[in-house]
Amino acid sequence: MDRADQSTSPHSTAYNEARRVLTGNWAGASTVPSRSLYPHQWSWDSAFIAIGLRHLWPLRAQRELETLLDAQWDDGRVPHIVFNPSVPLTAYFPSPDFWRSSTAGGAAGAPREVETSGLVQPPVHALAAWLTHRADPATSARRGFLRRVYPRLVAWQRYLTEARDLGGQGLASIVHPWESGMDNSPCWDAPLSRIEPVGSETFHRADLDHSCPADRPTDLDYGRYVRLAENYRDHGYHDGSRCHRFAVEDPGVNALLAMSEHALAAIAGALGRDPSDHLVRAEELTTALVKRLWDDEAGLFLSQDVIAGEAIHEYSAAGLLPLILPGLPDETVRALVATARGPRFGLGHTTRMVPSYDLTGASFDPARYWRGPAWFNVNWLIERGLRRHGELLLANALRANLVSSAASSGYAEYVDPASGEARGTRDFSWTAAVTIDLLADPPAPASGSGIERRHRERLVPVPSD
Ligand code: SER
Repeated sequence: MDRADQSTSPHSTAYNEARRVLTGNWAGASTVPSRSLYPHQWSWDSAFIAIGLRHLWPLRAQRELETLLDAQWDDGRVPHIVFNPSVPLTAYFPSPDFWRSSTAGGAAGAPREVETSGLVQPPVHALAAWLTHRADPATSARRGFLRRVYPRLVAWQRYLTEARDLGGQGLASIVHPWESGMDNSPCWDAPLSRIEPVGSETFHRADLDHSCPADRPTDLDYGRYVRLAENYRDHGYHDGSRCHRFAVEDPGVNALLAMSEHALAAIAGALGRDPSDHLVRAEELTTALVKRLWDDEAGLFLSQDVIAGEAIHEYSAAGLLPLILPGLPDETVRALVATARGPRFGLGHTTRMVPSYDLTGASFDPARYWRGPAWFNVNWLIERGLRRHGELLLANALRANLVSSAASSGYAEYVDPASGEARGTRDFSWTAAVTIDLLADPPAPASGSGIERRHRERLVPVPSD
């Protein structure tokens, strides 16, 4: 076996190093994204982390998701941060005394016994739960894992499709940039420009104690993030079309929402229930996504600013994420693949991994948080999507680049999309987790490419799984 083979094989050095990261970041009942920068539990991080943990310790993967869902609010929302009470308040901003969930979130059904944020993050959880179950069905069945998490995941999806359908078009809205998971994307610059920032002297940013300022959002952005979060808190975390000053339909969030309905269908089937409601919702979400957010000229899904009533013409990797969906029209798949390979994202040409934002965009920055660097979870989703639609050559090349960039960057939070140089913090949990997932799942032979081999590989749940 040559060197390249070793670096991409299960139980290679990369695999063992990734395992070391996840071992070091396990906090007893869940995993911190990073010991320094993010010392609590984060929602979509935990979903990706479980997808990796399932190959190492399936029981730990189940607990990761159970711990998160234990902090679910009565209205169904799964909070984006679950705070560890033993971590000092100064370790992360905004800290629990900012969110005050157990009191300010009382009317929305926030739990009393744990402090959380009041925002959410993209819904990868049903997918993670299904993949976790599949890794060790016997332990899952013995512990009643699916039976216990299923109603919670259903309530979570319903929160997004009902309370958060602020545009009334069958898609979920995010009400804060952090809810997209892609906090500082240039997609949010226009809607954020309408928000009066709080003064930077009113808060202390703990992130700058652990990361290079050039890799992080600016103080002006933080002033706006804080204002939006404060407003939401001061209105009791209440949702409604008139409550929010920032409301955006994001294609990444909605693609994951639809994907998770497919996962819920698979879970329902495994529990002996009728999956048809979930399949109908998955189809409705996919149809709404294409109808409302697809932009033919861009060859990409664009975000919709619900308050301004217009599409946001910034090209983000979030617009490629619907590739993970089964049931996307063939011509849409073809256009998305062409866009991924084209000058904006450079896949297979100028980039090692798909950048978070348009290489040709005026706001592109290869170092700064979500304004250009490549992220490992996003590239994992795109790799899965390419593979689902039969683009095996592209998927295999992206897989190899993802694994080698993760290892060479020290499991960085994000990397320069062209050089693979590390950005943000190191020993980052989801970087390690998705690396393990790809290494544990050897690639199919790539004898060609093309969407005619659609459905050949069922890497994420589809109804017939
Ligand atoms: N990702 C945000 C941060 O940087 C909030 O979740 O702290």
